[in-house]
Amino acid sequence: MNIIILAVLPYLTIAVFVAGMVFRIYSWWKTPQPGALTLFPAPKGSTATFFGVLKESLFFPSLFKGDKALWVFAWVFHATLALIAIGHVRVFTDFPRLWATLGINADRMSAVSGGIAGVIITVAVILLLFRRISIGRVREISGLPDYLALVLILAILVTGNAMRFGEHFDLTLTHTYFSQLVTFSLSTAALPSNPMFVIHFFLAQLLIMFIPFSKIMHFGGIFFTQTLIQRA
Ligand code: HEM
Repeated sequence: MNIIILAVLPYLTIAVFVAGMVFRIYSWWKTPQPGALTLFPAPKGSTATFFGVLKESLFFPSLFKGDKALWVFAWVFHATLALIAIGHVRVFTDFPRLWATLGINADRMSAVSGGIAGVIITVAVILLLFRRISIGRVREISGLPDYLALVLILAILVTGNAMRFGEHFDLTLTHTYFSQLVTFSLSTAALPSNPMFVIHFFLAQLLIMFIPFSKIMHFGGIFFTQTLIQRA
C-alpha cells in the first residue's frame, strides 16, 4: 500500500492535476466574454485592473460587502493556508545557510508558526463546515462536492497537526524521498514509513487531483472574472 501511495500515486496526481488544469483553463478561455466589449463607461486601464484584481484576491472586498461573518472565516482560512503552504517548502528542501545568515532557528520558528497556523486553520474549517450544515439557505445550495472538499481538507489538517504536535517528525526523510521522487530514482529504503505522513500525503494527493474539477478552482476563476468586472 505504501508503495502505491508513495511511489505510484504522486506521478498520477501530477498528470491528473496538469491535464485537469489545462482543460479547465482552456474551457474558460473559450467561453464568450461579453464584459470585454464594454465601451461605456470607458474600461479601466490595465494598471487599475491589475491592482483591482490584486486587492480582490488578497482581501476579498466583494465578500466583505456581502457577508461579514463568512468573510472572517474565509479570510482567516486562506491567510493561514498561505502561511502553511510557505511553511511546507521545508518539507521538500531546506536553506540552512539562509537561516544561519539571518540568525534564525528555523525549527523553532516553524514549530511555533506552523503550530499556531495549524490550529487556527482547523478551527476556521470546522466553522466553515458548521456554517454549511447549520444555516438553512446555505445548506440548500450545498452539494456533496462542497462537503467533500471541506471534510477532506479537515482530515489533511488533523493529520498534519498530529505530525506537528505528536512525536518529532524528521524532515530529512521527506527531503531524501522527494529528491528521489523528482529524479525518478526512488529506492524503497527512502519511502517514509510514518503512518501519519503516509495518510496526510495520500489525502493531500486526493485533494490535488480533485482541485481542477471542483469549486476549489475559484482561485483561478477569480483572475478571469475579476479582470472583466474590474475593466467594466
Ligand atoms: C504534497 C503534499 C503535502 C505534503 C508532502 C505534506 C507534508 C507535511 C509534513 C511532513 C508535515 C509535518 C511538518 C513538521 O512537523 O515539521 C505537515 C504538516 C502540516 N500540513 Fe502538510 N503536506 C502536504 C499537503 C498539505 C495540505 C494540502 C494541507 C492543507 C490543506 C496541509 C496542512 C498541514 C498542516 C496544517 C500541518 C501542521 C502545521 C505545519 O506543520 O505547518 N498539508 N505536512
